[in-house]
Amino acid sequence: MRHLLDFQDVNKNHLENLIEESRSLKIKSKNLDTLALLKFDEPSTRTRLSFAIAAEKLRIKTFESSDVISAKQKGEMLQHELETYISMGIEILVLRTKENNINDYREFKEIGIISGGFGNKSHPTQALIDISTLYSFDKLTDTSTPVTYVGDVKHSRVFESGRQLLNLLGYKVGVFTDQNLLPDNKNDLEIYESWNEVFENSNSIELLRVQKERMLNIEKINFDNYIKNYQLTKKILDKSQKDLIVLHPMPINIGIEISQDAIEDKKIKYIDQLSHAIPSRIAAYKYVKGEI
Ligand code: CP
Repeated sequence: MRHLLDFQDVNKNHLENLIEESRSLKIKSKNLDTLALLKFDEPSTRTRLSFAIAAEKLRIKTFESSDVISAKQKGEMLQHELETYISMGIEILVLRTKENNINDYREFKEIGIISGGFGNKSHPTQALIDISTLYSFDKLTDTSTPVTYVGDVKHSRVFESGRQLLNLLGYKVGVFTDQNLLPDNKNDLEIYESWNEVFENSNSIELLRVQKERMLNIEKINFDNYIKNYQLTKKILDKSQKDLIVLHPMPINIGIEISQDAIEDKKIKYIDQLSHAIPSRIAAYKYVKGEI
């Protein structure tokens, strides 16, 4: 094998071959397969893996990056980052970020960008998973019956995308949580004050994790009170209607939003929900490619 550490040992003939080869491949590379970049700047178990598997099923070739290993560390601006991806033939960017600058991405028309969790405002493919799961349990038959979110609604991009999708489809959205964890915009929401009120009005719940990593005023939250008032326990589940289902986007923090004795109850449907992860990501890829 040869080295290409510098050009010290490369003869003129090989130099010309190198240049010719790279010039001709530049022209040919326009016909290669779809390339996607999975750029996850926050931790993920499900979203990253299911986007990778979905890509494999669609024969989309994926690459991985993150801010930690990119030139953003050296002050690179977004425009230059995206121009780089586009010039290298990346057609789809799947992005997870803690930032809330989603509108900065809308102007880039030469690359399809999918939110894999964007700040506290968007997680559209999780909403697709959740709505698909609700449909599979026949929970979206009546537009006047809200889907109720319980937990840290204020900091939840799962909630924001679910709310947006449900509203667009004509469904109502309920919320049951601590005053400090309500979103600023409450206009379209049915706000409940007790578990009984939730069960009287709704037959599907999406339980949400308390997102300590996004809380600016964490001292305002009394976690003992939160657990006492909003943790879903077996005792509470036993008081609910037979056909209630409880979803959770995961990760689940047992002991906070749900008790150990409730997690194995048959009304808890997170495993069924997980089965929609890869199909929803396949649909997202097909959408940005203009295939559906
Ligand atoms: N629900 C969800 O987004 O899970 P991950 O953070 O593991 O991707």
